[in-house]
Amino acid sequence: MTASPTADPIDSPTPPRNGDTMTVRGGQPVEGSIHVRGSKNAMPKAMVAALLTTEPCHLTNISSITDIAVVDELISIAGGTVERDADSVRITAHTFNTLGEADVMRLHTASRIPVLTTAVSLHRTGHAVVAAPGGCSIGPRPVDFHLLVLRAFGARDEHHDDVIELHADRLRGARIELPFPSVGATEQFLFASALAEGDSELSNAAIEPEILDLVCVLQKMGAIISVEPNRTIRVTGVGELGGFEHRVIGDRLEAASWASLALATGGNITVHGVQQQELSTFLNVYRRAGGDFTIDADGNTLSFRRARRMLRPLALETDVHPGFMTDWQSPFVTALTQADGVSVIHETVYEDRLGYTDALRSLGAQIQVFTECLGPTRCRFGAGNHRHSAVVVGPTKLHGAELVIPDLRAGFSYVIAAAAAEGESLIHGVDLLDRGYSDFRAKLEAVGVEHR
Ligand code: EPZ
Repeated sequence: MTASPTADPIDSPTPPRNGDTMTVRGGQPVEGSIHVRGSKNAMPKAMVAALLTTEPCHLTNISSITDIAVVDELISIAGGTVERDADSVRITAHTFNTLGEADVMRLHTASRIPVLTTAVSLHRTGHAVVAAPGGCSIGPRPVDFHLLVLRAFGARDEHHDDVIELHADRLRGARIELPFPSVGATEQFLFASALAEGDSELSNAAIEPEILDLVCVLQKMGAIISVEPNRTIRVTGVGELGGFEHRVIGDRLEAASWASLALATGGNITVHGVQQQELSTFLNVYRRAGGDFTIDADGNTLSFRRARRMLRPLALETDVHPGFMTDWQSPFVTALTQADGVSVIHETVYEDRLGYTDALRSLGAQIQVFTECLGPTRCRFGAGNHRHSAVVVGPTKLHGAELVIPDLRAGFSYVIAAAAAEGESLIHGVDLLDRGYSDFRAKLEAVGVEHR
């Protein structure tokens, strides 16, 4: 039996043509303001952290994205209680039951979050089950780095057809170097090391703002964690962890998506709820491309606009933090179809994250995808046959087309392209957007994108 695909819920396979559809009429500059709430890639990790204690944990600034529903269900199956209101969630994990194979298979197919409960399960029960990796729309999404981390802490793994079973009597502190600064594997290390016996160290760690937010949550719970300047994280294991009160950081990926919409349509959008320093690399690239922004004194209200009649083309390479975030790539590249010249893009984090450019071509964009590394870095994908670089020729006049959304970030790019195109576009699979962009249609309304 083939392994079940493990994917971010936002990267599920392309929906059918009769999926949730939206018609967008483009050609007008957008104008308006929106509020961005808790980060899709920070919230669920803080919820997993709550499973490391039997005390109540309270998270605020929670957004109503459906991606979180998977985590609610996971916590309930594991024996925890989840009480949710409009923008907060209270979690209490008095007990923890290891997920059964059927639940693991089902939940892992819908989300990348369940794999993060492996260390938690080993701490709470000495046993864990993980779905064998599978593909999704941006790459194979393996879990080998997670297994590398857990084995280092003393876990023993047995591979079956569709699942990997792990056992450990007591996780012991370990020194680990990641082959790549994986966000998920770093989070797995944090969950394992916080309650492990002795000291731990992770080098070549991910240090994204969402990781640092999780470090703050764990520190509130009683963990002893230091993030060194050279991408090394050191942890001293403690005997137990307590509850927490925490306001989740804003979603910098969503903020950049709306900013890219303003750039592509020549409009202006004010985004509330994300801190400037979490967007600093994006802001520099935005300004280089001919966008501009004003930021209020608190640094959490940013007004984005196109500052020049014609956008400037760019050579853009994605990277781990503090580089240009891979999740910013597809919305921003969509705006580069309107730049006056040739832009070159090199995606170095995922091997297959340029699939959305096929749809942009159907709207009239001139984009060619290559397997070569078209950037200063020879990345992990240069040797394989991965279509991970692109050349965009602009400006191109975009026209309406029928589109099927394959994943969250590509989906937002389609809406950006449709809003920048003359005429109407019919977009299928819009419900995928609700998994990572809360109140998506209301926000489109707020910035004046004509849709039905
Ligand atoms: C997180 O995914 C985010 N998802 C992704 O956001 C984001 O793009 C990614 O980090 C990179 O920043 C969530 O936080 C829920 P990784 P994650 O482990 O943790 C390879 C979005 O649009 N890898 O940093 O799964 C992997 O294949 C989503 O919001 C292994 O090879 O990402 C990829 O090439 C998309 N083996 C690279 O590392 C492993 O065991 C980065 O993956 C794990 C990862």
